[in-house]
Amino acid sequence: MSEARTAFIRTYGCQMNVYDSDRMADILARHGYRRSETPEGADLIVLNTCHIREKAAEKVYSEVGRLKPIKERARAEGRSVQIAVAGCVAQAQGAEIFARAPVVDAVIGPQSYHRLIDVLARARRDGKAVDTEFPAEDKFDHMPPPANRRAAGAVSAFLTVQEGCDRFCTFCVVPYTRGAEVSRPVDKVVAEANALVARGAREIMLLGQNVNAYHGEGPDGRTWSLARLIRRLAELPGLVRLRYTTSHPRDMGDDLIAAHRDVAALMPYLHLPVQSGSDRVLAAMKRRHDRAFYLDVVARLREARPDLALSGDFIVGFPGETDRDFADTLRLVREVGYAQAYSFKYSPRPGTPAAEADDQVPEPVKAERLAMLQALLAEQQAAFNGAARGRSVDVLLERPGREPGQLVGRSPWMQAVQVDAPREAIGRIVPVRIEAVGANSLFGRLRAVATPEALPA
Ligand code: 5AD
Ligand code: SF4
Repeated sequence: MSEARTAFIRTYGCQMNVYDSDRMADILARHGYRRSETPEGADLIVLNTCHIREKAAEKVYSEVGRLKPIKERARAEGRSVQIAVAGCVAQAQGAEIFARAPVVDAVIGPQSYHRLIDVLARARRDGKAVDTEFPAEDKFDHMPPPANRRAAGAVSAFLTVQEGCDRFCTFCVVPYTRGAEVSRPVDKVVAEANALVARGAREIMLLGQNVNAYHGEGPDGRTWSLARLIRRLAELPGLVRLRYTTSHPRDMGDDLIAAHRDVAALMPYLHLPVQSGSDRVLAAMKRRHDRAFYLDVVARLREARPDLALSGDFIVGFPGETDRDFADTLRLVREVGYAQAYSFKYSPRPGTPAAEADDQVPEPVKAERLAMLQALLAEQQAAFNGAARGRSVDVLLERPGREPGQLVGRSPWMQAVQVDAPREAIGRIVPVRIEAVGANSLFGRLRAVATPEALPA
């Protein structure tokens, strides 16, 4: 171990990358690196990248361009700076990254983070190093337990329980960049959850690319479903909220739907991507379900948990998508009613079947459809948030808010809520009366709680 060095980690993409960045920080901390908030002055710069759409993947190259002068300045001062590209671009492009960005020293795929220190040492020795193997061993077994979580994320923590995807939707790179579906054993998940709670987490978001396909080995030697795992985690003292993301409609089993009815800690908010409302497009995407199946899952979920709010992902301009197909998507959105959703223009990804299709949709058509869909989704989101006005909602207070004296937390439905409250209340669930609704947050007042001592624990 050497004297204190610093590492700057920039994270792109999904929550899994946020989790992975924290785990890399844990590993680096063990080897004497402190985490730095800026790339300037850092001894190591890690870009944890996303490959899901072209725009996301290209960001790494513009960022590397900005880092080059930092590295050169350091060299002029006699310091050496290492730049590592991690994440899904690293996995997809490997050593090709050096050709486009010679300033990069190391490339490390998401399944190799437990060998990060090794890769950096090799890069120091040989000039460049790559590790994009899908290792046979479980990387989680070789990573330190969570230690270095930033304080701001402590009340609500991420926990990866499943990684990779076997579904091979025809637009998606995930099965190639993250590999086959792997579930972590129940005991390991429970141990990590306990460690997070001991460090102040009150809410855990279970992560997986296809998290509801979770099938981890239970302590009884049997395979446990996500529903069973959730029931087990809900028993942990101090853990008051559970969420999971992201799910495939096909893997929404009866037991998971029942968990939404029975498990109070399981929050009434679910990200359940459908991608398209057209049966033709869903078939071409190889989603392996149709519109009716999705609507039925949604209906059964709402029957189990009437206050359930839904979020989703949509792709517009998938190859061959007609005006009529797109109208089916708008119709589905109207039928479901989303609290929030993400929508994207189809982006052809190298190596995926849909990228080869010869009926690609022209860019202006995609742009027009995206604007229409986003207008509808924004309207629904505003209506959903507006309905909170005047109501009392339970808010888990997470961290200081925008203004002095303010804290920000989340409602059960993932809405950010700003409220005047003492700092000691961080980590508690408090009833808040919503008085105003902004574009990105709700604003409320603590209900009938005068002193910190009076706040429910
Ligand atoms: N083009 C556009 N959007 C995509 N997504 C995945 N692959 C693509 C692609 N090639 C979207 C899907 C997915 C979300 C994570 O990203 O909606 O659910
Ligand atoms: Fe990609 Fe999700 Fe389909 Fe898996 S289920 S291939 S992660 S879109």
